[in-house]
Amino acid sequence: MTTDLHPEAFAGLRRGRLGDPYLYVRECRSTQELLRDAALPEGAVAVAEHQTAGRGRLGRRWEDAAGSSLLCSVLLRPGAGMLPQLSLVAALATAEAIEELTRCQARVKWPNDVLIGGRKVAGILLELAGGAVVAGIGVNVGQESGELPEATRTPAASLRTASGRRHDRGRLLAGLLHRLELGYLAWQRDGLAPLGPSLEARHALRGMPVRVGEVEGVAASIAPGGGLEIVAPSGRTVVVESGEVEVAGGIDVDEQRLVDVQDLGVDPAQRQLPAGDPGLEHR
Ligand code: BTN
Repeated sequence: MTTDLHPEAFAGLRRGRLGDPYLYVRECRSTQELLRDAALPEGAVAVAEHQTAGRGRLGRRWEDAAGSSLLCSVLLRPGAGMLPQLSLVAALATAEAIEELTRCQARVKWPNDVLIGGRKVAGILLELAGGAVVAGIGVNVGQESGELPEATRTPAASLRTASGRRHDRGRLLAGLLHRLELGYLAWQRDGLAPLGPSLEARHALRGMPVRVGEVEGVAASIAPGGGLEIVAPSGRTVVVESGEVEVAGGIDVDEQRLVDVQDLGVDPAQRQLPAGDPGLEHR
């Protein structure tokens, strides 16, 4: 049976260099494990209809209902350092692609979750594999409310429950990879600065009472280096570079529908590959 993620369906949708090669399986333990081959080039993507041992951050499980999620891993070779920033680059690309497809406003919950209406629809997991980074992205797409995991720290939603419509996973993946490629190239060239306005516009935590480890206060901006600024009760601003955010009382976001994605982001010109830019080099 062919599905909306089958290589034949995806081949006509791919817009850039990410997704070549495209490794598609019906089932695996984790798509992260399919990209461990050192001979694979940057841009290789692994996709599964179902994972039997899907991994989340901090050793958690990532559950899926077979055929309902986008479960993908992307092989990147960004060089040394700044990995927490790459998590934001991937989360932003995922949020933008979700907005383009669903017309629902998606937010980035620093550092690696994507939310709609305060509910988590997607998560990012970065893992090092030799000199490469495997960026794992899981999106709840077609689940109905009864099929979503219940005992999660942030309540879960799918693109279907959030928008009231079914969505094509191949189109979502193509849009996500396209935006990830643009964001990744911009980040490699100029750091987070070109993505800052789009990220700030989608920053889910601003103004919320949060705790990250020992640091407690009100979340402010995402710092230029990618950390989360927290204003402590003393008035001092602390920047936390990584960690798990606890939000007192849950995330309160009411806006759902998007007017125009372009209005939220950075100058659209900056989101295109510059003329003559070859995109990702395959190594
Ligand atoms: C998180 O929110 O904790 C991160 C979840 C990442 C899940 C994706 S699904 C595709 C890839 N394969 C995995 O085993 N995990 C990631």
